[in-house]
Amino acid sequence: MKSLVFRIATLLVAAIVFVVILSTVAAFFALRPPISNDFSSVEARKLELLATLVEKDRSAAVSAGAIIRPQPSDREADTEFATIMSESLKRIGSPRASTVVHGDEPWTALVSLQLADGDWLHTPLRGLGPPPGEWKRLLTWLVLIIVGSAFIAVFAATKITRPLQLIENAMAGVGSDGLLSHIPETGNRELRATAQALNRLSTRLRAATESRMRLVAAAGHDLRTPLTRMRLRAEFIKDKAERAKWFADLEELDSIADSAIRLVREEVGASKPERVRLDAAIQRIVNEMSALKLTAEQGHLETMTIFADPLALTRALRNLIINAATHGEAAVVTVERQADRAVVRIKDSGPGVPTDLLGQIFEPFFRIDIARRKAIPGAGLGMAIAKEIIERFNGSITVRNRTPRGLEVIVTFPEATDETS
Ligand SMILES: Nc1ncnc2c1ncn2[C@@H]1O[C@H](COP(=O)(O)OP(=O)(O)OP(=O)(O)O)[C@@H](O)[C@H]1O
Ligand SMILES: [Mg+2]
Repeated sequence: MKSLVFRIATLLVAAIVFVVILSTVAAFFALRPPISNDFSSVEARKLELLATLVEKDRSAAVSAGAIIRPQPSDREADTEFATIMSESLKRIGSPRASTVVHGDEPWTALVSLQLADGDWLHTPLRGLGPPPGEWKRLLTWLVLIIVGSAFIAVFAATKITRPLQLIENAMAGVGSDGLLSHIPETGNRELRATAQALNRLSTRLRAATESRMRLVAAAGHDLRTPLTRMRLRAEFIKDKAERAKWFADLEELDSIADSAIRLVREEVGASKPERVRLDAAIQRIVNEMSALKLTAEQGHLETMTIFADPLALTRALRNLIINAATHGEAAVVTVERQADRAVVRIKDSGPGVPTDLLGQIFEPFFRIDIARRKAIPGAGLGMAIAKEIIERFNGSITVRNRTPRGLEVIVTFPEATDETS
């Protein structure tokens, strides 16, 4: 039986049995049993004998060290032992009154027995508890129990949380494509079931992503033929202004189809990362912008090298810089080193993005409002493509609105060190 429930039960039973056996053995050696009738009867007999001898020859007893006083001891009574002692005295047929008080040291007592003349004989009593040295054993016993239970608890907890660990590892292994890596289906029943469920989820996700990709690619591709036909037909429109409008719309449709195909290519495309000077790449893109009649300038560009596919990286950064230069009116780009990461900031002073829509900005085909769309053509795929590329090279991308206005896109990449390859 490899079930987790069975294992936990076995472990707990083993733990309890182990601790009980350990504590019983230790208690047997380290602790004395409570004062028994045997012990108190022997002591009662000894005391009775002593009292009788004292009564016979009091002066000899006093000179031998016997303590005789007119009253019993007035210290705090050891009630439990006092009851045992008086019962024991009765059992051996002694008519004497007795009191028992706590002694000076732990595990000692002071017994007072009344003599025939009314005085009291005081006798210290020892051997009621563990003799010196037994405390060390007791301490060892306690340490053993604590260490023993700690080991078992850690062992049990590790065993119990294995499926959770498995899920955690699987989540940590999610790549930039959002897919889980395959998990070995071994171990106990629950572990196997968890691994199987995660693997099934991963397969479904992969299938869904692939079908989405196929759909986007097919749509992008299939649009091309009707678009060409429409372009041919548009040639025959007599009204010049009307014809121009048709061509502009067809152009936009064409660019949407193009971007869709590009997005699919980025998501499924393999690329060869190499060392790229991030500052130089940014500089090139910024210089390109003036040819496109867009406003972009570079701020401080620290010399930084990262690992990426240069073409894909340029595509990603270009999309972001064009966005800042178009939607945001003018772009300012900087690069700086923060810890061991290269941080690119693309800032503009445009209208920014409404806060409730910031979370959707990386979704394919997301564009803000219709009024803006008219002014700036686009497919709504630039950000999605950029994110795809950046995350493929272990980078991250976030956006936030600036105050008083504008948008800031922050892209970070791990810096390429000499050891990275
Ligand atoms: N810097 C910016 N300032 C304001 N809005 C922005 C900015 N960058 C992006 N946006 C908004 O986010 C939307 C999505 O951007 P994205 O780059 O994905 O698509 P696009 O620019 O519309 O089209 P294209 O696919 O041609 O890039 C844009 O339509 C725009 O509304
Ligand atoms: Mg764009």
